[in-house]
Amino acid sequence: MADTVISIRRLKKDYRQGFFMRRVTAVHDVSFDVQRGDIFGFVGPNGAGKTTTLKVLMGLVRPSQGTASLFGIQVPSARALQRVGFLPENPYIYPYLTPTEFVEMCGSLSGLRGKTLRSRTRVVLDKVGILYAADRQARKLSKGMLQRTGLAAALVSDPELLVLDEPMSGLDPVGRKEVRDIIVEERRAGRTILFSTHILSDVETLCDRVTILRKGEVVVTGNLDQLLRREIKLTDICLAGMGDEQFAHLTELGVSAERQGSHVIVHVEGSGKLQEILANLLAQGLQVLEVSSRQETLEDLFVREAIG
Ligand SMILES: Nc1ncnc2c1ncn2[C@@H]1O[C@H](COP(=O)(O)OP(=O)(O)OP(=O)(O)O)[C@@H](O)[C@H]1O
Ligand SMILES: [Mg+2]
Repeated sequence: MADTVISIRRLKKDYRQGFFMRRVTAVHDVSFDVQRGDIFGFVGPNGAGKTTTLKVLMGLVRPSQGTASLFGIQVPSARALQRVGFLPENPYIYPYLTPTEFVEMCGSLSGLRGKTLRSRTRVVLDKVGILYAADRQARKLSKGMLQRTGLAAALVSDPELLVLDEPMSGLDPVGRKEVRDIIVEERRAGRTILFSTHILSDVETLCDRVTILRKGEVVVTGNLDQLLRREIKLTDICLAGMGDEQFAHLTELGVSAERQGSHVIVHVEGSGKLQEILANLLAQGLQVLEVSSRQETLEDLFVREAIG
């Protein structure tokens, strides 16, 4: 399909480990597609195979079976990689290079030269918030500052596709918000973004589509809105002015309740009987202070599918 930027089909990767070359299956039968313009989240517990899959895509490790392609070109392909910006899991930056030197080096490898290279380097260093330390050697930078430098290097060549392995790792809450904003901005500029993460709320706020891996296998993949069961799971009603007798009668309504100081919190499962229960409580003259409903979050889905 013309608009498929990444296509992974039945990918398998075995590593050989130790003296006896014991086989470790890192990825087993993984397939998914990323379409142009998508922000695609790649999630899974530690050791699920996210980095291995991204390394295959970047041509850094060979698959044992299956295929991966970028822009319809089978990897490894230098031609396809020219159109990709990659942030590795632990970006290695030669300790005696400064962010300016490192990002310029990456830009020149992508074919940028002269004034364009220098101005583009400053733009991306500014974008990731590291311009103030642009001339400090990497060995004197903090983990988050190195991460930002790695992200600048991924952006410098103005790539069509960004592949980011845990871009928020090592960043403080402000840094994480900045990276989230960069991802949204880069998509607006027409880029496709695939990123791996453990931070489920980031996936929920940013991504159109998601793949959840567990022990090297895809357990869930698809459109986030369709995957999450958006019906109301649970509603908490906070009430004031409830006497002991009224409290005892709550069980007749088929709800659970607990006292919290002078308030009572009533828990209603599902949405079917919510109106009726609320009407009943109001009819008893009780003061309703708050009604808060909870829908399924990505964390619920993750626990249900990837851990449970
Ligand atoms: N070079 C290697 N040699 C042997 N085994 C490896 C190698 N790299 C990864 N593995 C194994 O492959 C499995 C998947 O690792 P991978 O790094 O892909 O997971 P991940 O999902 O990125 O985890 P994390 O969230 O911790 O970054 C793990 O069991 C890991 O020990
Ligand atoms: Mg990883």
